[in-house]
Amino acid sequence: MNLPASAARGEEDRSAQLSGGGATTPAAGPSVSRFATATTPPRRDREELQVRHQFPAVADWHYLDSAATAQKPQAVIDAITETYACKYATVHRGVYQRSSEMTGRYEAARKAAARLIGGQANELVFTRGATEAINLVAQCLPREGRKRVLLSQLEHHSNIVPWQLAGYEVDAVPLTADRQIDLDAAERMLTEEHRVVAFAHVSNALGSILDARRAAEIARSKGALLLLDGCQAVPRLPVDVAAIGCDFYAYSGHKLYGPTGIGALWGRAELLESMPPWQGGGAMIDSVSFERSTYAEPPQRFEAGTPHIVGAVGLHAAIDWVEQIGLDEIHAHETALVTECRAALRSVGGVTLYGPEDSAGIVSFNVDGVHPHDTATILDDAGVAVRAGHHCAQPLMEALGVPATARASFAAHSDSSDIEALVRGIETVKRIFG
Ligand SMILES: Cc1ncc(COP(=O)(O)O)c(C=O)c1O
Repeated sequence: MNLPASAARGEEDRSAQLSGGGATTPAAGPSVSRFATATTPPRRDREELQVRHQFPAVADWHYLDSAATAQKPQAVIDAITETYACKYATVHRGVYQRSSEMTGRYEAARKAAARLIGGQANELVFTRGATEAINLVAQCLPREGRKRVLLSQLEHHSNIVPWQLAGYEVDAVPLTADRQIDLDAAERMLTEEHRVVAFAHVSNALGSILDARRAAEIARSKGALLLLDGCQAVPRLPVDVAAIGCDFYAYSGHKLYGPTGIGALWGRAELLESMPPWQGGGAMIDSVSFERSTYAEPPQRFEAGTPHIVGAVGLHAAIDWVEQIGLDEIHAHETALVTECRAALRSVGGVTLYGPEDSAGIVSFNVDGVHPHDTATILDDAGVAVRAGHHCAQPLMEALGVPATARASFAAHSDSSDIEALVRGIETVKRIFG
């Protein structure tokens, strides 16, 4: 299926076509990207993160789908393996030594997961991921007579459907011309009927970075709460919930170089205390009888059943790994790769770019007249993994006027060789469909 003519004519970045197509001049010297242009700083001007060798899965693969899920550094793989091999036991129950040590490690992971985003351990609920974290808030938050939620056009389905399921009426803020959430429009649209404003801190499809502090001020101005979906932000930017002034923050471990099945909901302590449990079972109770049960304080109140013990340990190892490198450094590295990638795609010609220039680690694009599934299939043959589809953001695709895009997303291990392989693959796509 070809893209509709509207996509080829769209208001997105047309400079790819205007550049004349394929006239890339190889830059001189081994440390300079072959894609360097007047607007792209030569690679020697920026620090490279030298961590690729720590990721066994990407040794011979151009993995550009880290926004879907991150590959794991050896340190995380080792922490998980070692725990199952010789440290494993249940948590919160056993009186024997290994269980109490395991409980200590599980709770240390909670502390790290909270500290990473500037929060306290008693405000950090372990969930299966960001999806479950947002569902928890949508289901449990007392509404106080308000029935609406304010979202944006670029939200992931995980930040749309939970609100619908919980019976909220949804309003969606449009985007600016450069595909940021339009906070002026948000200010106009927010009313005292809105209980929650829920925005992606970083868009998974476009990489747009929210001005989160301003979003918090806007929410507060009408007495609404701000939930940030931090799935794509936490692996890419330093985050401080106290400095932002938000009320809830959700993220997933597997996008942060940790395991699947573990994620976090941070919430202000008094809000978590106001919320009833949503799942019953072991570990979330204070006392149980057939007449009546009482519940534990948060965060345990929201963690029914045996938790993902080793998931928490793996997440802790991932957090340690990321903090050792530094999120400022990872952000600078990915920003430089985005700049390089956008310039490279422009130099190929016939490629439409979506999203802002300074997007965080994510570049969405289409080769004009080629369905992104075809693009991604040909790229796969060339050893380059990109995502193609609606990126669980169908309302955004509608706003962009396309059924789907291809998306290249970077991580700490990504480098210019990935971009070079991507461009070679796209040149092949153009040859085949040309
Ligand atoms: C912005 C955003 N929100 C929410 C999610 C859902 O995350 P998970 O599937 O880990 O719960 C994703 C995953 O792609 C995402 O990118």
